Amino acid sequence: MSIAATVYDQIADALADTGYCVLADFLPKIMVDSLYQRVTHLSSDEFSQAGIGRKNQFQLNDKIRNDRTYWLAEDNAVDQAYLDCMEALKDEINQRLYMGLFRYESHYAHYAEGSYYQRHVDAFKGQSNRILTTLLYLNPDWSGLDGGELVMYDPDSNEQIEKIQPHYGKFILFLSDRFPHEVLAAKRDRYSISGWFHLNS
Ligand code: OGA
Ligand code: MN
Repeated sequence: MSIAATVYDQIADALADTGYCVLADFLPKIMVDSLYQRVTHLSSDEFSQAGIGRKNQFQLNDKIRNDRTYWLAEDNAVDQAYLDCMEALKDEINQRLYMGLFRYESHYAHYAEGSYYQRHVDAFKGQSNRILTTLLYLNPDWSGLDGGELVMYDPDSNEQIEKIQPHYGKFILFLSDRFPHEVLAAKRDRYSISGWFHLNS
């Protein structure tokens, strides 16, 4: 299960240059398949309604988002294999960019038909140690008619910079405190893994 060094070079170059990176595929297909099997076999009561904000500011607000989430479990072999890949990614990025990435947390997300996540940023400067966001999409045969695009906004001009379809195996990284983004309403079940690298705090 080896990922070429040139792929990490490409990620580091993109992060240094624009602050984000979209890879049509990154992880071995066999791993994406096992993650897809896992997320689609979790029962709906294992997912929790997603919240917004942190700790004492945490609130459920289904006007802002109405996906459901499930935190990856270290005692599950499929989840742990993914976490191992993110650990390797962390080391490769730190070697190239000295970002000081330390801890990683991630959850599966299920957007049922009609679900969305309104425009937000994943971290506010000084208020969070979320540094780098990752997204992996687990949607076989996604079509342009299925909605559910990730819309990324330019942090300076606020203009839309990209509208990204959540295609199977697509992997995205972006600086957590820089890019406002939103998930448009999905017209069918939409599965993903969201994750965040933190600094050591
Ligand atoms: C998030 C998020 C985007 C996506 O989980 O914070 O913005 O495309 N997800 O799933
Ligand atoms: Mn987000």
